Amino acid sequence: MSFRLSAALILLVCLPAFSNEKARFIDSLLRKMTVEEKAGQLTQYSADMEKTGPQIYDGYEAEIVKGRVGSIFNAYTPEYTRRLQKLAVERSRLKIPLIFGYDVIHGHRTIFPIPLGESASWDLHAIEQSARIAATEASADGVHWTFAPMVDISRDPRWGRVSEGAGEDPYLGSKIAAARVRGFQTKNLASESSVLATVKHFAAYGAPEGGRDYNVVDMSDVRLFEDYLPPYEAAIREGAGSVMTAFNEIAGVPSTSNRWLLTDLLRGLWKFAGFVVTDYTAVQELVQHGVAANDREAARLGFTAGADMSMQDGLFGAHLPELIKERTVSMERLDQAVRRVLEAKYDLGLFKDPYRGASESKANGVLLAKAHREKARDIARRSIVLLKNEKNVLPLDRRATIAVIGPMAKNQRDLIGNWSAAGDYKKTVSLYQGLTEALGSGEKVLYARGSNILEDRKLISFLNEHLGAIEVDERAPAEMIEEAVEVARRSDVVVLALGESQGMSGEAASRTRLRLPENQLDLLRALKKTGRPIVLVLMNGRPLVLETESLLSDAVLETWFLGTEAGRAIADVLLGDYNPSGKLTMSFPAHEGQIPIYYSMTKTGRPATSTGSNKYVSRYLDAPNEPLYPFGWGLSYTSFEYSDPRLSEKTLRMRDGETLSVIFTLTNTGRFSGEETAQLYVRDVSASMTRPLKQLRGFKKVYLNPGESREVEMRITLDDLKFFNRELKRIAEPGEFEVMVGGNSNDLKTASFWLIKK
Ligand code: NOJ
Repeated sequence: MSFRLSAALILLVCLPAFSNEKARFIDSLLRKMTVEEKAGQLTQYSADMEKTGPQIYDGYEAEIVKGRVGSIFNAYTPEYTRRLQKLAVERSRLKIPLIFGYDVIHGHRTIFPIPLGESASWDLHAIEQSARIAATEASADGVHWTFAPMVDISRDPRWGRVSEGAGEDPYLGSKIAAARVRGFQTKNLASESSVLATVKHFAAYGAPEGGRDYNVVDMSDVRLFEDYLPPYEAAIREGAGSVMTAFNEIAGVPSTSNRWLLTDLLRGLWKFAGFVVTDYTAVQELVQHGVAANDREAARLGFTAGADMSMQDGLFGAHLPELIKERTVSMERLDQAVRRVLEAKYDLGLFKDPYRGASESKANGVLLAKAHREKARDIARRSIVLLKNEKNVLPLDRRATIAVIGPMAKNQRDLIGNWSAAGDYKKTVSLYQGLTEALGSGEKVLYARGSNILEDRKLISFLNEHLGAIEVDERAPAEMIEEAVEVARRSDVVVLALGESQGMSGEAASRTRLRLPENQLDLLRALKKTGRPIVLVLMNGRPLVLETESLLSDAVLETWFLGTEAGRAIADVLLGDYNPSGKLTMSFPAHEGQIPIYYSMTKTGRPATSTGSNKYVSRYLDAPNEPLYPFGWGLSYTSFEYSDPRLSEKTLRMRDGETLSVIFTLTNTGRFSGEETAQLYVRDVSASMTRPLKQLRGFKKVYLNPGESREVEMRITLDDLKFFNRELKRIAEPGEFEVMVGGNSNDLKTASFWLIKK
């Protein structure tokens, strides 16, 4: 018998035994539990290590001993989690271990690029690896469960949390969601280095009206199914063990009390078997939403809709026992929720070892390990997007005198973003450090701060009250600019590091003006007058409106918040040691008034390009329709040429399993080796519903040396052509389809084929 076959047989024989054993174990535990203890398993409190919401509950240690808490979040380090776990497994009646959750969003101690930045790598292997490393570090540090991946599609960069997601596109977003789940959980949750993943925020949290966080969401079901739901489903198919409800309502129903969402769709249609945790105090917020008269009703609504564990408000713990007594909640439903939570604990191996092998020495061995930092540097450089590079000002000439200017140039705190878990910003490599390490300090790398991030003192103190660390240079803006201009004059080229402070994006950080703060623009304008070439290095958490900024700069590098190794990664790109390959996963608007803006729009009955002379078409009088930088955009130090695509067939039959190949030749026509992300889009030319002008359906990363050509093949399947119709059935319709290939969503070469009945 082959090894594979025997391994498969062993699995087949063992799996049912394992699940029987698990069911028996949980059944017997359930039989011993009081209603209060059951409600306790469905209760999660924040420990006092971090503050991520409006209130902290301090009585939780005593509650753990009483068996009234099933989970703690915001607690880490082996020492601290061990102390809390001991209370549960040594002093509570049934000794049920706690599950420790934490927002390990883009790294635990070694911080990787913010998710929006990392998504710009389009590198699923790298993305999976960063999640793997995050899980390895977090689990060694006592964490069992991460509140990631956040997979909310968003087309509105006013919403600060776009920084945590993978951008605007459901196809790419789904692939990234699955890759991150694989990285966190692996195939074996019981392994000590795995952590349970949470897909969040269910659902459509990324589409709040006006881009204002927590605000109302309202959209058609077709749009919800087509564009917003796919990444949650992909993460669940990949095995994500938990789902977090969203703060928002959809069409009048808050997600946390939405039975259709949490039960009919999630359990019925998608067969999700894990447990649902609410977002922070989201049960209690049902009262604020105005759908529950009081906390008790809120608990009943959330619980009967399908939320299994309540985060932080304690309302399931406080009210489920009475609700059971008065029979407005059934014991069956209570047991079902408790079973789901206990199953997760069982799968993680917590009943065997409630500490999961976490120890100081293990943590010391992995936190910020050299290999992790090296990976973080590589993933960071893959995430950088070269937006503009006129006259090839980049890569920099190593012999040049470089003026490194700007409030972000020596910045460390902001580079790890605002969900930086156990990250230590003092260990972060600034841009200045990265460049001087590569070039040596002294005569050739000059520095001036040039400006503050903000001059708005009210905003600064507000942000600093909420975990910000914005440092202010008290000199007058004109004086700082003058010094910077003088430094620029002594240089050959200016590397100008501007951007947002981390607290200006992320949760509760919606903004209406997406340009750089005016005082940073003043610095840019003054430096422009020196006549030195300007390389603008942006550090920020969302798409910005960069019309002026890019006009005034010769090169623009979008570096997001790249994490622990940011400075070295940026230096690698500036100096040409790494040829940039990142591509935007969210459109960068030309003007805030264009928002929402995304590449996969439909055509309208009066389609327009911004330039024609016709007035009565869908256009703005004062701005183009097109974004400044479209989805998929990103330059390289070399150039790539695409041949026209060739199709293996002229037709595709409407049968599952049928495929069609799209083949084209990609050539590196420039002077540098480099990696291109070739993109494939399709368009349904005429259908029973209006269809997007293009939709991403494939991509491939191809590395080519100068002059090298490669034939690239991508497949189209029947599934790629399907869409949700008005009855919410996913169908494909016969007819003509266009296939487009290219290096961004705007510059594409087309071929077409027909989908025909079988
Ligand atoms: C609120 C956020 O919306 C959610 O993403 C996070 O996981 C929780 N707070 C816990 O910190």
